[in-house]
Amino acid sequence: MAWWNDLEPLKQEALAAFAAAGDLTALDQARAAWLGSHGRFTALMKHLGSLPKEERPAAGKAMNAVKAELEAALAARRRELELEAARPKVPYDFTLPGRRRRVGRLHPLTQVIEDIVRSFRRLGFAVADGPELEDEYHCFDALNTPADHPARDTQDTFYLPDPAGPRGRWLLRTHTSSVQIRVMESQPPPVRIIVPGRVYRRDNADATHNPTFHQIEGLYVDRGVTVGDLKGTVEHVFRELMGRDVRIRFRPHYFSYTEPSYEIDFSNALTRKMGREWLEIAGCGMVNPVVFETVGYDPEVWTGWAFGFGIERIAMLRYGIPDIRLFYENDLRFLHQF
Ligand code: DAH
Repeated sequence: MAWWNDLEPLKQEALAAFAAAGDLTALDQARAAWLGSHGRFTALMKHLGSLPKEERPAAGKAMNAVKAELEAALAARRRELELEAARPKVPYDFTLPGRRRRVGRLHPLTQVIEDIVRSFRRLGFAVADGPELEDEYHCFDALNTPADHPARDTQDTFYLPDPAGPRGRWLLRTHTSSVQIRVMESQPPPVRIIVPGRVYRRDNADATHNPTFHQIEGLYVDRGVTVGDLKGTVEHVFRELMGRDVRIRFRPHYFSYTEPSYEIDFSNALTRKMGREWLEIAGCGMVNPVVFETVGYDPEVWTGWAFGFGIERIAMLRYGIPDIRLFYENDLRFLHQF
């Protein structure tokens, strides 16, 4: 029997060497020892050429079969060792619960703003935006606010030290009403917008005041708009936001950019629990024709109403929050409650 018919012991020896390799480096060494260019099996293959011609086919076939088997065994052992190398070195309990990331949530003020915006969107209002850094014209003059109005005083408003521009001094807007002017300047009527945003006043912080706070402005301009539309809209939105038991009251007031003007009082179970039947929550009124003239709307054709809500007030009422400063302290113990 020719030697190539008895490759079995050699093959077993090689297979044993592969199986014995304890890591990838050892396996590489075993591969080199058997199948590398100077390997033992490779040497046999080289020997093939020196066999008599008639013996070569049978010898080649036998050796190729063994070689294929060795390579398959090598690959299988490699996969095993690779898996082993990837396994954590420290014992690991796969039944432990995963590390959970705490899901973030929206700030309560953002939640209130989003709810109010959603409500108005359903009524066909679009969200408008304007700069927090304003000029006197948009914040006061165009809103028919006279020069001697206290809101214009440096005691009440943050003016910038920069020299005045063509539209007066620069300031941090004291209300979102300035955006009414910017929107009407930029488009013809009709208008149906709400404007959520941050405003600034020179107030000392206490339980109900903060030098920065948030408002939502509303402006509706069309033909034949009435106070009834205004009251119905405000009532609808507050009931969606605060519940069916909400009542709204309009109390005559004065704003230079509306005529007539009202303050909106709000009442529900919570205000009564606080010992107050009515709580003032917003200003509103029918847009003063003088304002329409300023922005180039014909006051004989167009009518409108406007309002401004304080967001913090509403959020405090909605969630029963006693101190406005809690909104700004970023204390997670507070924020996680909403
Ligand atoms: N801008 C007023 C404020 O900050 C609120 C306000 C009152 C807005 C009447 C209006 C309005 O649009 O018509 O106190």
